[in-house]
Amino acid sequence: MEQWSREKRYRKYEETTNEEMALLRTKVNHSPFPQTYHIQPPTGLLNDPNGLIYFNGLYYIAHQWFPLGAVHGLKYWRLLTSKNLVQFEDRGVILRPDQALDSHGVYSGSAFSFNQSLYYMYTGNHRDDEWNRHSSQIVAKVLPDGTVRKILPPAIPAPPKGYTQHFRDPKVFEKDGKWYALIGAQRENQTGCAVLYEAEHPEGQWQFKGEIQTQLEDFGYMWECPDYFQIHGRDILLFCPQGIESQGDAYQNIYQSGYIMGTLNFDTLVFEHGPFVELDHGFDFYAPQTMTDEAGRRVLIGWMGLPDTEYPTDDEGWAHCLTLPRTLTIEDGKLKQKPHMNLRKLRKNEEVALGYANKFIKQLHPYEGVQYELVVDILENDASAFELQLRASRDEFTTIRYQSKTRQISLERFDSGALPYPVEGTMRVTQLDTDLKQLRIFVDTSSIEIFCNEGERVLTSRIFPKTTSNKFKVVTDSGQIYLKMTKYDIVEGE
Ligand code: FRU
Repeated sequence: MEQWSREKRYRKYEETTNEEMALLRTKVNHSPFPQTYHIQPPTGLLNDPNGLIYFNGLYYIAHQWFPLGAVHGLKYWRLLTSKNLVQFEDRGVILRPDQALDSHGVYSGSAFSFNQSLYYMYTGNHRDDEWNRHSSQIVAKVLPDGTVRKILPPAIPAPPKGYTQHFRDPKVFEKDGKWYALIGAQRENQTGCAVLYEAEHPEGQWQFKGEIQTQLEDFGYMWECPDYFQIHGRDILLFCPQGIESQGDAYQNIYQSGYIMGTLNFDTLVFEHGPFVELDHGFDFYAPQTMTDEAGRRVLIGWMGLPDTEYPTDDEGWAHCLTLPRTLTIEDGKLKQKPHMNLRKLRKNEEVALGYANKFIKQLHPYEGVQYELVVDILENDASAFELQLRASRDEFTTIRYQSKTRQISLERFDSGALPYPVEGTMRVTQLDTDLKQLRIFVDTSSIEIFCNEGERVLTSRIFPKTTSNKFKVVTDSGQIYLKMTKYDIVEGE
């Protein structure tokens, strides 16, 4: 493992030499795990998606970026733009730590449009001489030439009384003619929450309005990356609580991402809501954010990684990627997450087959691949349980297993190849609401995203198999299943 002193971690990208970056790029280019249709950093570490917006005919997708290596160092925002949400153009750094207030990182935030201009609000992270953290929320305006002007003094110079400096990730939105900023916070009693600020217009005065009053009074020590939106008149608060103990199959990852749904009263800030629901049941998913697409659909993108975890590519000079865009809907009162329809634009070479599978393991042709989309329709199921083995070879495979009676679906990556560390266990399990009828699986060089039953559940994970582990196998415990398999190669990249 490469050693990262504090000095090295907080070195500026601007201070690097071309030779140094070329060397790092060469190292990254030797990685056997480059993603092809997911957004990944050219070098260094990517984390949260930031500033997502559809503006003037273009999608803007930025992310947290430390360019110099696979550690959480000095954070910048790197921007990509897209006409269709699935093919991207790299626009490089859009926000850099060039002020005292953000000297230790341009942390996460959101985008909004106001008076035909594009704006961001982000967290300025500053450490003083004693290494104490200071958080401020800063508005920045994108000028016609594409450069960004930070508006100082900051919109929110410090946390209000009663909250610690763990105060970040503003999500700005407009509602009923008012502007709001929702911020992830920690109370002085070390519990997490989300607070709301209000402004007449985003370049004006931001007033502390109060805390969102949920029934989750004592739910983790910090809530990161909050988001708020409405679907079909239901209010949804999305956030990432840290410090939740695992309970059975739930909350297995180091930190959680999920939502509560109900009715939020913007006068009293009282939120009547149902239980906290996890957004994803895989190993690597965090800090999701949403925007509306060109047709007004709510789209979610997450970070396919977790904090405080080492990944197999770290020594190759890069880490992490973003998830594919998902469309959120509410059907029968439940939130569903489906792959965004534009992902169909990436499909090449359709292969379709119908067939039975039984307890004799069967390798299916031509379902080999490393980058593809696979739709498995389960037309009949008399099996007590069945397994799909993806990215398989003699010594590696990633298993999706379904138990018919309990409707449990699991993802096992014990034999997938190299693994992140430390991670609790090698299996993730979730119980479906209805019998499994369909799986839509997106496989890239080092990831798998599994959508069950038209968005009922999603399991997102990094996997690090060899590229020669490209086979697909199916087997039941007993009984048989009748499947329709549709596979598309995906050959388009960033
Ligand atoms: C979440 C997070 C945010 C913060 C950013 C820093 O992963 O910790 O709360 O703004 O990452 O990179």
